[in-house]
Amino acid sequence: MGYETLNVETSNHVAVIRLDRPEALNAISSTLLGELAKALKAAQANDKVRCIVLTGSEKAFAAGADIREMSEKSFVDVFMGDLFGDEVDQFLRIRKPIIAAVAGYALGGGCELAMMCDIIIAADTAKFGQPEINLGVIAGIGGTQRLTRAVGKAKSMDMHLTGRFMDAAEAEKAGLVSRVVPAKKLMDEAMGAAGKIAEKSMVTVTAIKEAVNQSQEVGLSDGLLFEKRMFHALFNTEDRVEGMKAFVEKREPQFRDR
Ligand code: HXC
Repeated sequence: MGYETLNVETSNHVAVIRLDRPEALNAISSTLLGELAKALKAAQANDKVRCIVLTGSEKAFAAGADIREMSEKSFVDVFMGDLFGDEVDQFLRIRKPIIAAVAGYALGGGCELAMMCDIIIAADTAKFGQPEINLGVIAGIGGTQRLTRAVGKAKSMDMHLTGRFMDAAEAEKAGLVSRVVPAKKLMDEAMGAAGKIAEKSMVTVTAIKEAVNQSQEVGLSDGLLFEKRMFHALFNTEDRVEGMKAFVEKREPQFRDR
């Protein structure tokens, strides 16, 4: 399918979705967010895809929601139209793992999009921020909640209230990103991680995504119970039998997603 604001390429079981609005540093217009939701849904439906990588350009992952487009809207427009609501819900329903490969600016909605992914791998050029305060608004697709869970209240409050940016080293130290690599190696690193995940049993991968995400939603005892039930349930899969048998037999497992 052709998109106006994205490029999508699938190879070796990995769908790479590249945000592509270079003239606006990949600012998130309603067209871009709608196309992104569609591309993710297509990747979810494609049996060949086992992992998704979401990326931008060297200069920007995404510099936030499209300010020009938003500047025309009233409260009634955004409230009654539930601006970004459906697309975000669709994003969060994707069950395959999504890796954000971030170079350059990931600001406002761009930082929030990255945080909606399952893993963030950053180039050493990455800059994260929630500068919405400078526009008289606040984050709207998870920034006040997900950034706080990722880096703690102190840094989150600092970022949201001052609008300052966090560089890649600070983001890694604070726990926002899992790896930082030289910019030139960003896609290799992300594709390497995606390739590793693609080798696993998709049943186990999906269970892990659900269980870890549960930790962001519920209290500890409910989360632990969810994990234990999932752990027990996986004893029903052929891939669990194969995984343990392969270990005992000192060979690589052959998973079949069963
Ligand atoms: C629309 C944007 C944009 C944005 C950049 N551009 N960010 N257009 N919306 N969010 C456009 C610029 O207008 C400019 O277009 C071109 O991209 C290049 O940007 P420059 O500003 O010239 O580049 P530079 O000087 O390198 O500065 C980069 C920057 C700056 C620091 C990232 O562009 C910036 O501060 N952008 C806005 C960041 C921001 O406030 N984001 C939060 C948005 S609110 P022209 O046509 O002039 O060349 C938000 C709410 C989230 O995200 C709610 C839920 C989604």
